Amino acid sequence: MLCVSIGRSRHRHMISAHRHLAEQGAQLVELRLDYIKGEIQLKSLLEQRPCPTVITCRREQDGGKYGRSEEARQALLRMAIAEQADYVDLEEDIAAGIPRYGSTKRIVSFHDFRQTPADLEDLHARMCQLDPDIVKVATMANSPLDNFRMLELIRNARVPTVGICMGEMGMVSRILAGRFGAPFSFATFHHERTLAPGQLSFEEMRDIYHYDQIQTDSTVYGVIADPIRQSLSPLIHNTAFHAKEINAVYVPLRVPREHLNEFLVRAPQIGIRGLSVTIPHKEAVVNRVQKADRVVLDIGAANTLIYEDDGLMAYNTDSRAAMDSLEAQMPADPDYLQDKTALVLGAGGAAKAIAYGLLRRKARVVISGRTPERAQQLADKLSCEAIPWNARYHVDCSVLVNCTPVGMHPDIDNSPYEKHHLKPSVVVFDTVYNPENTLLIKNARSQGCQVVTGVEMFVRQAVLQFNLFTGKSAPDELMRKVLKRATGAAQL
Ligand SMILES: NC(=O)c1ccc[n+]([C@@H]2O[C@H](COP(=O)([O-])OP(=O)(O)OC[C@H]3O[C@@H](n4cnc5c(N)ncnc54)[C@H](OP(=O)(O)O)[C@@H]3O)[C@@H](O)[C@H]2O)c1
Repeated sequence: MLCVSIGRSRHRHMISAHRHLAEQGAQLVELRLDYIKGEIQLKSLLEQRPCPTVITCRREQDGGKYGRSEEARQALLRMAIAEQADYVDLEEDIAAGIPRYGSTKRIVSFHDFRQTPADLEDLHARMCQLDPDIVKVATMANSPLDNFRMLELIRNARVPTVGICMGEMGMVSRILAGRFGAPFSFATFHHERTLAPGQLSFEEMRDIYHYDQIQTDSTVYGVIADPIRQSLSPLIHNTAFHAKEINAVYVPLRVPREHLNEFLVRAPQIGIRGLSVTIPHKEAVVNRVQKADRVVLDIGAANTLIYEDDGLMAYNTDSRAAMDSLEAQMPADPDYLQDKTALVLGAGGAAKAIAYGLLRRKARVVISGRTPERAQQLADKLSCEAIPWNARYHVDCSVLVNCTPVGMHPDIDNSPYEKHHLKPSVVVFDTVYNPENTLLIKNARSQGCQVVTGVEMFVRQAVLQFNLFTGKSAPDELMRKVLKRATGAAQL
């Protein structure tokens, strides 16, 4: 079950949001009284409640907005109990002074916005002494490993416990809380109005993560990156799991470089069986696996990890996805790329995977990077040619591939290659997928070029990952459709 928190400054907005959520299927709603400006009309809020309700009035020290006296706040909480609110939230330092009465259930809560304390179990044990129906612990995650401790706490708790790590690094704990036995997790009523750091919206929890369908035995997959919030991988993979009725969930995992090692060792403890890997970890993971496929061994970068019985296995689905995307736009001749010149812009991870694929198809590859040493390094590694960035228009190429982020949202008015240099005979491939129709793609179309978009590559690499994760075929058309819809929206 999800508890959806509403924080509005006016009663009528609070009531209409509450009604709307109940109509949308919310089973439990938290009314944050501390957001209300002016006199709080608790009775009318409770009388009109369309679904079970938690009454919370948070002090500033606990991340709330209540600015009046502590006496007045506790009087409100007592009144909520007298008026038979379904649940009332009592912070652990005041819970002992407010006795149980009637049918109202007691949520005894603790918040720490700085850290996840080392003595989490002792703290929990103390809270269990305060006559709770539910214990709620919300602490800041400063490491992805804090989630492991929090989820373990929920799993071992004798009293039903909602344990949440706050912040971007803690998002996974919000999504997996129910899998570990929490009676509910929290979500915000609107994606632009988070009431706590890292909170996901009711719609995201319901429609992307299918929170209510996550079981204790659901397999967990995820994407490791830093930063993580903008990743579209959870959307595309969860859509695929849901469509194929696979008992699995795919979560965003912000893992800073310094925590990568320990995270990879401990990931199976929270049910993780496979991971997508993106910036900045694609190269670093290669030294931490026991097995790797041919592409990973050749280029030293992986974008997929699978926990197999005999160790961690690394794959690279980027290279094949890029080549499949390109070849789908070309004559059905397996040797078509042979001896053709391909100009690759950029010298990072995507450039490496794509240049490798082109070279295996015997194309002549020229790398143009804005940092000459990096471009030369890549060219040396793959045995191809590097040229300076400002020499890119001098290359007579059949294929042009953009592997820089130029043109990516919000930089949508820029292109790494000027329009008037684009000849109609050139196939233009932009790996940027957000937006799909980058300025480069628009210019190429208007010059009469064949185009390949980053959406195609992104979908294909995710389809290949889905195959590796599940052993099943992926619903590729559906994955393409949701990604196009999401990147279309981001373009606005
Ligand atoms: N469609 C897909 O499935 C997919 C998959 C992976 C990546 N991508 C796309 O590929 C792009 C690159 O990803 P990556 O993993 O290769 O990143 P990366 O390793 O950071 O490499 C980025 C490359 O672009 C260059 N660059 C950055 N800003 C530039 C600018 N303003 N002008 C010229 N060059 C610039 C960098 O140059 P320096 O060396 O000088 O820093 C570097 O060579 C991303 O934008 C992403 O959208 C798409």
